Amino acid sequence: MAQKTGKFVSGFSKLSKREKLSWLARHFFNANPLDAVREFGSFWHSNIESQKLFDGISENVITNFYLPYCVAPNFLINGKAYCVPMVIEESSVVAAASSGAKFWHSKGGFQTEVISTTKVGHVHFCWQGEPFNLFAFFDQLKAIMLEGVKHITTNMERRGGGVKNVEILHLPEIEQDYYQIKVEFETCDAMGANFINSVLEAFAEILIKEIRENVDFADEQKEVQVIMSILSNYTPSCVVRSQVSHPISELGKLKGGMEPEAFAEKFVRAVKIARNDVYRATTHNKGIFNGIDAVIIATGNDFRAIEACGHAYACRNGKYQSLSNAYIENGLLFFELEVPLAIGTVGGLTTIHPLAKRSLELLGNPSARELMGVIASVGLAQNFAAVKSLVTTGIQFGHMKMHLSNILLQLEADQSEMDKAFAYFQDKTISFTAVRVFLSKLRDGEGQFAY
Ligand code: MEV
Repeated sequence: MAQKTGKFVSGFSKLSKREKLSWLARHFFNANPLDAVREFGSFWHSNIESQKLFDGISENVITNFYLPYCVAPNFLINGKAYCVPMVIEESSVVAAASSGAKFWHSKGGFQTEVISTTKVGHVHFCWQGEPFNLFAFFDQLKAIMLEGVKHITTNMERRGGGVKNVEILHLPEIEQDYYQIKVEFETCDAMGANFINSVLEAFAEILIKEIRENVDFADEQKEVQVIMSILSNYTPSCVVRSQVSHPISELGKLKGGMEPEAFAEKFVRAVKIARNDVYRATTHNKGIFNGIDAVIIATGNDFRAIEACGHAYACRNGKYQSLSNAYIENGLLFFELEVPLAIGTVGGLTTIHPLAKRSLELLGNPSARELMGVIASVGLAQNFAAVKSLVTTGIQFGHMKMHLSNILLQLEADQSEMDKAFAYFQDKTISFTAVRVFLSKLRDGEGQFAY
């Protein structure tokens, strides 16, 4: 039996925002409820209309959670210059993306290719009967289904999208009587989740009705059990590739004095490890999604869908592998990323969130296909910068600089203290305590001994 905690609440969603906050403060911040209310409230937008908009985006909203909105300049993609918006809390990510972009800017930039843009969904159902009879009926059923969703698809068709393919699959290895109606969609510039799910649910209703009314089926075959109708976030046919390449001899000396040939060889080896070792592949791909997720969030897209799909795609050859690949051919270093990106530039949050709209404007209001190329290029730049650091200076070199600057900010160091700290910690181990001790000595006038 559930324990009575006094914290159970019903009808919470019906309370006003102030009432929700007050309930929360009384039950979970009872040491100082007023402080909690004040702090949560201090993040409300000063413009009431703007706050209303944010309140409407989700459920049980009590305040806003700020994340840094950053930009990475110098991206040259298919010959076009971009300054890319990135929403992310990890300090080194934007620096790494920018450095990757800058590195490739003078070397021709990123070339992208949208391989395909097909999205997919299924009606999952069970039916007891001879599979052959169902397959024989399917062509007729398919025509009725397509006709029956015209009211949903007409607009999308006008834009060049709609239902592209419908097929039936029998999967007895899962359950003897289990089938799927697999539907492929083109949703143009929309992510298309609502469109896809509406079509699938309409298909399911038609399926039930048509089988019930089919005079050729025996009574016990007239019942279909629809388990569910839902899009799949696995979109292996909604894929984009971004690539960079350059003569190795013209890459220039790398940080730490490494020759370009030695760098290229080590770089390719590092990527090969990520293609073959799951421990490294996971971290390698995490680095790619550092960049991808940040742009996905900034443009109002769904980062959970993108991540889920990306990791499933990384397993498409039977084991989890890196999403990027690197190789040397005819003296050139090639580095490329192939990643599924089912995204949109119209509808959903992309048209509600004022900063998502600004992000798209910053990118020149791209089509979904163009945005796929931009996002894949940011993932590749991110990955390049991370692996480049790893095989040259080591990752802590750059990270620690960021870490130091965060600690200094927390300790409210001024510019002159920061400059001194950066000089002092150049060859020393950075920790919060070490920085605090350094600053307090500096502030006590012992600075001349500290660095
Ligand atoms: C850190 O957020 C991401 C990296 O670990 C990625 C990588 O190791 O490739 C630096």
